[in-house]
Amino acid sequence: MRDVHSNSYFDPGDRRAERVGDLFAGVAGRYDFINDIQSLGLHRFWKRRLVRLARVGRGQRALDLCCGTGDVTFALARTGAEAIGIDFSGAMLAVAERRAARLEDRARREWGGRVQFIECDALQLPFSESEFDAVTISYGLRNLADARRGLAEMWRVARPGGRLVILDFGKPANRWWRTVYYAYLRRLVPVFGRLVCGDAAAYAYILESLERYAAQEGVSAMLRELGALDVRVINLIGGAMSIHCAVR
Ligand SMILES: C[S@@+](CC[C@H](N)C(=O)[O-])C[C@H]1O[C@@H](n2cnc3c(N)ncnc32)[C@H](O)[C@@H]1O
Repeated sequence: MRDVHSNSYFDPGDRRAERVGDLFAGVAGRYDFINDIQSLGLHRFWKRRLVRLARVGRGQRALDLCCGTGDVTFALARTGAEAIGIDFSGAMLAVAERRAARLEDRARREWGGRVQFIECDALQLPFSESEFDAVTISYGLRNLADARRGLAEMWRVARPGGRLVILDFGKPANRWWRTVYYAYLRRLVPVFGRLVCGDAAAYAYILESLERYAAQEGVSAMLRELGALDVRVINLIGGAMSIHCAVR
């Protein structure tokens, strides 16, 4: 069997978070560009769908975990909600802050929303219980050293009736499609990483982390264990991506 620990950015033990931090510090400047290439721009639609499912608007507060360069945080603010994005990577947040500086005047005028970024760990959120109407995480849960704890933190800071919405890579149920899709992640995506960021391993990491990720069934089970209501999974492109929605 192939060694799933062979990727330099995937550490299954105590150094998991540190290695993930190194990965995003290295790719931050090209992250948005490579997202467009590897998903053919589709990630933009999936993120919009995630934000619609969060069902926030003016007068509400939304928290976006592992916000990276801020795509989802900005989209949440565009609804008129107050949006806070958190991430532990200073490099990714620096890109988000640059985008905020360019957008904020327009955002204030057109959306009425507010955007704030905070550098902190998703596993130890600096917020009190029940502070948010919706808590989102996009392509972040798979990267956490402890996904169960990440979900518990989302749960803790969401108000009763608040929404938890999770977008990430998925595991297609259809064997043929899964084989094709995994081959794409194994063979082609690292090539994009090498060409755009000079680092194939940073993108080979996606499949390494996906193989260890609870994905559709496992994340649903963890949400139910927390006591979540209305747990729903939306499969996108045959389950290659998925969105989990739940109500606290
Ligand atoms: C693949 S990026 C996703 C960025 C953004 N949400 C998006 O969808 O484009 C994953 C992000 O998770 C962040 N991250 C990973 N583990 C984290 C943790 N424990 N606490 C906070 N951020 C974390 C990384 O720094 C990185 O910015």
